[in-house]
Amino acid sequence: MTTTRSTTTSTPPRRRGLPYVGQTLSYIRDPLAMMREHFDDYGPVSDISFIGKRWTVLLGPDACEAALRNADKAFASGDGWGYLVGPFFDRGLMLLDFEEHHRHRRIMQSAFTRDHLERYTAALGPAVSAGLEKWQPGPDFRAYPALKELTLDLATTVFMGGADLDSLDELSKVNQAFIDCVQSATALVRVNIPGTRWGRAVRGRALLEQFLRRHLPDKRASPGTDLFSVLCHIKTDDGEHFSDDDVINHMIFLLMAAHDTSTITVSTMMQHLGQNPQWQERCRAEVMALPEHPTMTDLDGLETIDLVMKEALRLVPPVPVLARKTVKETEVLGHRIPAGRLVAVMMHLSHHMDELWPDPETFDPERFAEHRREDKVHRYAWEPFGGGVHKCLGMFFAGAEVKTILVHLLRTYSWTVDPEYTAPMNYHSLPFPKDGQPVHLTRL
Ligand code: HEM
Repeated sequence: MTTTRSTTTSTPPRRRGLPYVGQTLSYIRDPLAMMREHFDDYGPVSDISFIGKRWTVLLGPDACEAALRNADKAFASGDGWGYLVGPFFDRGLMLLDFEEHHRHRRIMQSAFTRDHLERYTAALGPAVSAGLEKWQPGPDFRAYPALKELTLDLATTVFMGGADLDSLDELSKVNQAFIDCVQSATALVRVNIPGTRWGRAVRGRALLEQFLRRHLPDKRASPGTDLFSVLCHIKTDDGEHFSDDDVINHMIFLLMAAHDTSTITVSTMMQHLGQNPQWQERCRAEVMALPEHPTMTDLDGLETIDLVMKEALRLVPPVPVLARKTVKETEVLGHRIPAGRLVAVMMHLSHHMDELWPDPETFDPERFAEHRREDKVHRYAWEPFGGGVHKCLGMFFAGAEVKTILVHLLRTYSWTVDPEYTAPMNYHSLPFPKDGQPVHLTRL
């Protein structure tokens, strides 16, 4: 497939739906089915109503590529994401654009160098094994909530340097505040009314700000190796650094960006490894040869786990849709998109298209192996980390975290999942299995 541009342009076709709600409910029910149907009926560029606004939907790798490469700088990320989660992740890196984004990304990159990643990875190992020790194995173990708790523990260790949480109660309030902020994305009521998803998210953001602001003076005073500390102290060669407000805004976004995305990735991997015991054994054999606490370099050598991770990210991309807003009129595949239009880059569909992947619904990690490399069919066939200037800055950190969890999991437990099981997903925001994903977990 190649990106084609025509000489004549037309307005995208528009799907009519219920006023205000539009396609919101069919997206939440089954986003992939909604995207497939929409692509078949209207092609790669079309308009829908979604959560009270008109959006242009981009489907398939060519259309997604146009927005993410953003050659004419028409697509802004901040105003797009801003509509969905703006008040809660205000001034996080993904919500900044153009010059300002470039400046902040340059500073933040210094927190993700190989040296820093090695240090974060060193802190991950002991925290993961301690977290897994707490699990109570059994025939109906709910993997998703257990993984979510684990990744939150990791966030407080690696991101916060174990900043003294005053009590377990505070930890659960911080955890809930994140969930509330993330869950606001597809809320139909988008004003601060108590008891609504939006209202809970407003309070969640306030709690996170207070919490981080309370710990900030200590982090400024004594440099440590955790991400919070690093953000307080990094400087570029020309002396640029983050203000206190920058650190807090970036931390809230980073904690969110790192948390649910890694959790759903491990949870999808657990599901498929539970349904495909031969793959679980291959992965286990690979990790048994590693030292107790593997370094980044050790993790880089985990080829089988890498294939499984890529396949999990293909089947269930943790961020199925990216949001943008046009800052000027532009054109995608012959369709004119006016300035000021919200744009949904629905890359989830690309991961499941028959045109790109043989047998797209089958779990087949080998498709990413050197001798097959099915992802090479199109630069944007597989894009779980996005593309262009906003491409995930934490993708190597994510790889280290996911692989560290898998290493300890495979050494401590074995598990099975009913071969017929299909996870009932909640797509109000980032995806998660509504039933907590039952597995039969046994301690080795
Ligand atoms: C499997 C796990 C992850 C997935 C699938 C993922 C996915 C993504 C995607 C798709 C974007 C692009 C958003 C857009 O273009 O609108 C993104 C951005 C970002 N991610 Fe991740 N992410 C993951 C883990 C992480 C982790 C662990 C961190 C930090 C430690 C992180 C930090 C970021 C940051 C800072 C951005 C914004 C980059 C920018 O705007 O320049 N992510 N991520």
